[in-house]
Amino acid sequence: PAGDAPRLTVLGTGYLGATHAVAMAELGFDVTGVDTDQAKVDALQAGKVPFYEPGLPELLEKNLATGRLRFTTDVASAVAQGDVHFVCVGTPQQRTSHAANLAYVEAATTAVARHLTKDAVIVGKSTVPVGTAARLRELVAREAPAGVDVELVWNPEFLREGKAVGDTLHPDRIVLGGVSARSEAVLRTVYATPIAEGSPVVVTDLPTAELVKVSANAFLATKISFINAIAGVCEAAGADVTVLADALGHDVRIGRQFLDAGLGFGGGCLPKDIRALMHRANELGAHRAAGLLQQVDEINMGQRERVIDMALEACGGSVLNRRIGVLGAAFKPLTDDVRDSPALNVAAALHLRGAQVTVYDPEAGDTARRLFPTLSYATSVDEAVEGADVVLVLTEWDQFLGEDPARLAPLTHRARVIDARGKLSAEAWRTAGWDFTGLGRAAA
Ligand code: UGA
Repeated sequence: PAGDAPRLTVLGTGYLGATHAVAMAELGFDVTGVDTDQAKVDALQAGKVPFYEPGLPELLEKNLATGRLRFTTDVASAVAQGDVHFVCVGTPQQRTSHAANLAYVEAATTAVARHLTKDAVIVGKSTVPVGTAARLRELVAREAPAGVDVELVWNPEFLREGKAVGDTLHPDRIVLGGVSARSEAVLRTVYATPIAEGSPVVVTDLPTAELVKVSANAFLATKISFINAIAGVCEAAGADVTVLADALGHDVRIGRQFLDAGLGFGGGCLPKDIRALMHRANELGAHRAAGLLQQVDEINMGQRERVIDMALEACGGSVLNRRIGVLGAAFKPLTDDVRDSPALNVAAALHLRGAQVTVYDPEAGDTARRLFPTLSYATSVDEAVEGADVVLVLTEWDQFLGEDPARLAPLTHRARVIDARGKLSAEAWRTAGWDFTGLGRAAA
């Protein structure tokens, strides 16, 4: 960027904000990341990413060294110096309903508005219920000092955990909601590199921009629940859902991605986003959409019950005092995030039914232990499967897929495996002497 390039601030340094701050610095901008959590800020300023995200630590260190990137809790001075302020704070599910909690978004937007000292653009990136941005505009108009020309626009983020750096630097699309000619030009400068590399830009109004984000997640969730519903039919009919998904995926209108049947979706986004959209759709009187999403959620949660039942069945109806080796705690591979993790949900449910559950995850052991301290944690696959009556593969880490079933079998008490992610070779495990069951796979 040129010498008169806009200076950026990023409010919130979680998965989204930390990645966005580092990626924008990597694109050459001067970036200040702001968070209210001193420990997070100290860690980032010291070059440590407080969560597991491949590639991010290297890029953080590199950009801190250039002097273009810094982190602070001092929102006043950060905002005073910035031209474009990205709001990247969380919108967790409310404790008492399906609605999103907008307290952090409102607090961050208020803080920016109050501390403005020059003309600026506030860019919402958090995932919010449709209609939020319009209300935030009113808030900004009330809170911003007189004489400052400030615009609030919406630019949703579509990054995946585990692939956050690549997704941020090379987005599938850039959605700009509610922009004027001036703010559109500013954001086209900010995203000049990805735009030049081919990322399409969609310019639209605020509600459409807000809805694109949640609709994308709702569609992905629907795709997963669709294949999981079909997996149930496959099991009953003796068909194989993994082969079926491959065959469906050859149709370019369908596509193979997000057709992996199994334990279903979890994490900090898909579950809360479909519930928030359900809630918002009902508020708006769009009950059909809410009904569809309700089914998607129910099918998804049912997969967890299904795997619990399979484990009970494998142990002859009761898991009391049985040893269960659980491989996987993260909600998906390549992250240490255990928010709404189906794997931990299943592990905890079996523990409650009296099983001795030992969990191993290559990255998420520590975060899992904090949330579920009563489960046992192993430091290796071998330790987790040792003496097991049944082994459950609940997160499809490459490490697990690369294990030699013939080597693992003698470590167990009974060589029984339930593949809840559809990634193991049934044939290879059966040949190695395992009793193999998979979701949506035919029995031997
Ligand atoms: C998701 C979206 O994919 C991102 O585009 C979006 O930006 C992000 O939410 C967000 O809203 O911030 P993420 O939560 O990182 O990203 O996870 P995904 O890769 O979408 O996976 C979600 C869950 O679906 C995982 O539990 C995964 O195991 C499960 N899944 C995925 C399946 O069960 N089957 C599949 O075929 C694919």
